[in-house]
Amino acid sequence: MELKDQSVTVQITKALKERISKLSPSSTTVILDSNTKRYCYPTIQHVIGDHNLIELSPGEAVKNLEGATIIWGGLTKYQVDRKGLVIVLGGGVLGDMGGFCAATYKRGIPFILIPTTLLAQVDASTGGKLAIDFEHFKNHIGIFQEPYETLIDTQFLSTLPEREVRSGYAEVIKHCLISDKNLWIELQGKVLNQLNWDQLVSHSVRFKKRITTEDPRESGLRKILNFGHTIGHAIESSALSQGNPILHGEAIAAGMICESFIAKQKGLINESELKEITTYLHSIFGHLQLQLDTTNLIELMIQDKKNQNQKILMSLINGIGHCVWDVETSTEEIQKAMDYYFNRV
Ligand SMILES: NC(=O)c1ccc[n+]([C@@H]2O[C@H](COP(=O)([O-])OP(=O)(O)OC[C@H]3O[C@@H](n4cnc5c(N)ncnc54)[C@H](O)[C@@H]3O)[C@@H](O)[C@H]2O)c1
Ligand SMILES: [Zn+2]
Repeated sequence: MELKDQSVTVQITKALKERISKLSPSSTTVILDSNTKRYCYPTIQHVIGDHNLIELSPGEAVKNLEGATIIWGGLTKYQVDRKGLVIVLGGGVLGDMGGFCAATYKRGIPFILIPTTLLAQVDASTGGKLAIDFEHFKNHIGIFQEPYETLIDTQFLSTLPEREVRSGYAEVIKHCLISDKNLWIELQGKVLNQLNWDQLVSHSVRFKKRITTEDPRESGLRKILNFGHTIGHAIESSALSQGNPILHGEAIAAGMICESFIAKQKGLINESELKEITTYLHSIFGHLQLQLDTTNLIELMIQDKKNQNQKILMSLINGIGHCVWDVETSTEEIQKAMDYYFNRV
């Protein structure tokens, strides 16, 4: 599946002015965190007219009922009615939670997402999934709801720490590996500061939009977006529980290497494709230095909510640029893949 380089990014001040004047809301409330207040808010502050601010602490720790209570409480305090507009200015944490709160406040008021991290722009911004975490379960309480508008401007990436940019790039690489061999070839040998974010963000958004429009509730095709995520999520959770948290994309990069190894074991890709994938991902992400207990990782994979009947089902690439889903994978295959990643010299 190849996609033309048509841009989906906007010049934020112009786009925002237009959308607000079209909607003509009874009030405007901006939800942000201390980082986006410092780095992103100055860009939009003067084009949105009178507005309220609701500020949260940055990071995943706020994405829960307490964070949601701060947002619902703020909207209530400002007497926002059903014609009030919410603008969510932030990464995936605020996008998921701010969107969820707007979509449930008074049975739903319009919200505009302005994703300000690369991960939020290429992934969280599209597909309508909104949620908060609950009692250690990620995204446990949530809904599907599209925003009034999503406005993506890559200028916000200039203040994002490099580690966050790299983490978001893992999803861009994933999108190429599962759907676009030509773009994958173009990326080979390129390092982060050689990349054209307008082109790559547009590519990812167009691709994800197409997949999620075809299969909004993840009953089939949408599962290809989980490539790298069965093992990646287990690595992410395990690192977190060891007190050694790593970023989502860092875990997914390792997950994509392991799952490519499984694809090779199953004859879905060949040796040279596996080598190409491993080499490029290591060149960007390095090699995770973690002591992980594979039995515990496999336990986590069995519990993954995407599985059925205790079987581990994976989305695996079937040649670079293609992906198949619901592929049953044995614990032996996973064990070998973990050895390939963690015990390689
Ligand atoms: N809804 C979906 O489909 C979907 C998809 C993928 C991920 N997610 C969710 O996204 C979340 C992760 O998102 P994230 O990686 O964007 O994390 P995040 O929202 O925590 O942002 C990362 C950090 O960057 C800071 N930041 C944001 N924009 C900045 C900017 N322009 N300049 C400087 N700093 C900035 C934030 O304050 C935060 O400290 C997770 O909760 C995950 O579940 C949702
Ligand atoms: Zn992901």
